[in-house]
Amino acid sequence: MEDPNMYDFETLAVHAGTEPDPLTGALTPPIYQTSTFVFKNADHGARLFKGEEEGYIYSRIRNPNTDMLAKKMATLEGAEDGVVCSSGLGATLCAVLSFAKSGDHIISDSVIYGGTFSQFSEELKQLGIETSFIDTSNQDEIAAAIKPNTKLIWAETPANPTLKVVDIKAVSEVAKSKNLPLIVDNTFATPALQRPLSLGATMVIHSATKYTSGHGDVVAGIVVGSKDDIHHTSEKMGHLGLNLGPFESWLLLRGLKTLHIRMQRHSENALELAKFLKGHPKIEVIRYPGLESDPYHEVAKKQMSAFGGIVSFDVKGGIDAGKTIMNNVKLCKLAVSLGDCDSLIQHPASMTHSTYTPEELKMANISEGLVRISVGIESVNDIINDIDQVLALI
Ligand SMILES: Cc1ncc(COP(=O)(O)O)c(C=O)c1O
Repeated sequence: MEDPNMYDFETLAVHAGTEPDPLTGALTPPIYQTSTFVFKNADHGARLFKGEEEGYIYSRIRNPNTDMLAKKMATLEGAEDGVVCSSGLGATLCAVLSFAKSGDHIISDSVIYGGTFSQFSEELKQLGIETSFIDTSNQDEIAAAIKPNTKLIWAETPANPTLKVVDIKAVSEVAKSKNLPLIVDNTFATPALQRPLSLGATMVIHSATKYTSGHGDVVAGIVVGSKDDIHHTSEKMGHLGLNLGPFESWLLLRGLKTLHIRMQRHSENALELAKFLKGHPKIEVIRYPGLESDPYHEVAKKQMSAFGGIVSFDVKGGIDAGKTIMNNVKLCKLAVSLGDCDSLIQHPASMTHSTYTPEELKMANISEGLVRISVGIESVNDIINDIDQVLALI
């Protein structure tokens, strides 16, 4: 694809990152299932190691399939370059370590995925990097949290599992005024619905395990950003050994071809389910930024083209009612993860965010009765009927 700027997102989702195989003409790229690559001679090998010539050395560093995937996601996000990692948390670590080292400080919104919170509060701490968890929708809080050794601001939007929406443009303006990079976890929205770089973010990460794959068969992560920044991120990925295999990269290349269609259907189904739940007598609070009544609707409308496939709600009757729902769904599967074709349901307080203390749960606005549904692409009537029949049991 010569000039991606000539094409719409839907066309890029299908075509970007891959070309017919130059050797055989195969439309679908071969899987380069190899750990190492043979040099033409000693000088060629030396030139590759010195970076004087483009080419492949060893699949922990680069592989044609990871390159295609990085290029495809970079194109979809409007970035110069990308790097592929073995998981979303691997991508998170590589992105953070591209800017921060021992003795530094970072700022993160307090409402983020539980695994990211553990990485920041436990692992980064052990590495000598301190994190301040704040509410990034409050500009005074950001300003007050910035220290001389602050190296970046982190936000996840919409956030897992409460669907808090961060105003990317507003936070990026504060970050820019202080010369700090803003990294956005765009896992929930994907570039089909939201492009943080166009709103002023510096770098974007994905748990590619989720909507990028779309089929629940891969664990992976991707980071995209400027060529210079990604050069550092790529070094971290290689040094830490957080590379993704060629087959998983190939599966993700396939998944991305249908991203726009899946995200449209996820969003339509989620909005219908949210509307059904909003009026339901057994529901206390419904959280979906696509609902006009949602506190984040206006910000979400500004920066997203649709509102994604995740719906969270607090059921009346707290944790016991939540358990009744988990144990009696028929179509929805009781499982963590999200973004699959299949509808998945889970209970953050006892599952994805179970390491949180009661204070941390409160800070992240996660109640004990909160239920999260990753709305799949099945018939929305069947999804609603399933939730309706469990709510009748409460
Ligand atoms: C928003 C978000 N970011 C990052 C991650 C971590 O991704 P992975 O499980 O691929 O490491 C997750 C996982 O659920 C997530 O929901």
